[in-house]
Amino acid sequence: MTRRAVVKGVGHYLPERVVPNAEFEKTLDTSDEWIKTRSGIERRHFAAPGETTSQMATQAANAALKMAGMAGDDLDAIIVATSTADMTFPSAATMVQHAIGNSSGYAFDVQAVCAGFIYALSNANALIMSGQAERVMVIGAETFSRILDWQDRSTCVLFGDGAGALILEAAEAAGTSDDRGILSVDLNSDGQYKDLLYVNGGVATQNTGVIQMEGPELFRHAVEKLAQTAHTALDKVGLTADDVDWVVPHQANIRIIQSTAKKLGVEMDRVIVTVQDHGNTSAASIPLALSTGVQSGKIKPGDLVVTEAIGGGLAWGSVVLRW
Ligand code: ACO
Repeated sequence: MTRRAVVKGVGHYLPERVVPNAEFEKTLDTSDEWIKTRSGIERRHFAAPGETTSQMATQAANAALKMAGMAGDDLDAIIVATSTADMTFPSAATMVQHAIGNSSGYAFDVQAVCAGFIYALSNANALIMSGQAERVMVIGAETFSRILDWQDRSTCVLFGDGAGALILEAAEAAGTSDDRGILSVDLNSDGQYKDLLYVNGGVATQNTGVIQMEGPELFRHAVEKLAQTAHTALDKVGLTADDVDWVVPHQANIRIIQSTAKKLGVEMDRVIVTVQDHGNTSAASIPLALSTGVQSGKIKPGDLVVTEAIGGGLAWGSVVLRW
């Protein structure tokens, strides 16, 4: 017998304002056609003025609590993966903690950019497996619209805002790959690539800054490293691509998603794709895709799900779980 961290609830929140590609044609030398063809993105949601990451995260958290039939104070820990917390400190997670009525647990943020949700999920799993927590809320939430350069057509058309949340609970299991819950994790980072994707501001400069990205170079790393990490995570638990019901990738670019699926040996009809509607929401993209996949009736209890992501750092990784 072993412990497993099993999914009890999932939920998401998207800001009301939907911005189609055509909107960028008014201010930039770009086109709906270019954005769609090169990235797969058709529209994205942007937060309203004053709407923050912690507020969106709270909405997603409440949706997940509702699905799990839990109250905020039932949680032992709340982890928010984000690179766009409302303030330098305190953490977005402590703001969510207060907003959902939790004061008995503890809350903290994880910052691994677009791989943030994978890192947070891995931390939640470790807390549960070590007996430090029974119930953990893992949230990915971002307002990337606040760190975009609206004159830079090579970045501002790619990102969006939103939040997704997942609740994990400890359960006794047989200790085989048939168990429900998180089965394996693979995490990686390599700081030598920090200049491929960064924000040119922060505490050191005393301003927030905007995204700087070497798109084509990042693309090459993504295709290679995402398939590699997913294979490693599957290998660790003795599973192969044939066992996978759903790949839930970080939603950055449809061409990266397709190339990775091909390298993994998984057909696109077993991949959850939301990039057309959400754009790249960084740490929020995987929980948004998981929640959308469940709501649409695709992901069902017992399904084997592989998540994978890469982002600034570079940081990348994969989590294999049975829903
Ligand atoms: N509209 C029109 N033309 C554009 C635009 C635009 N919005 N953006 C760039 N172009 C132009 C470029 O200037 C270039 O013109 P040139 O050939 O005259 O120099 C041409 O289009 C081709 O540009 P590339 O950058 O080579 O286009 P590419 O096919 O590589 O697509 C993209 C760019 C979409 C950014 C792609 O490289 C990509 O997705 N990279 C990975 C990004 C990524 O995954 N980021 C996420 C990981 S980390 C995270 O999520 C935070």
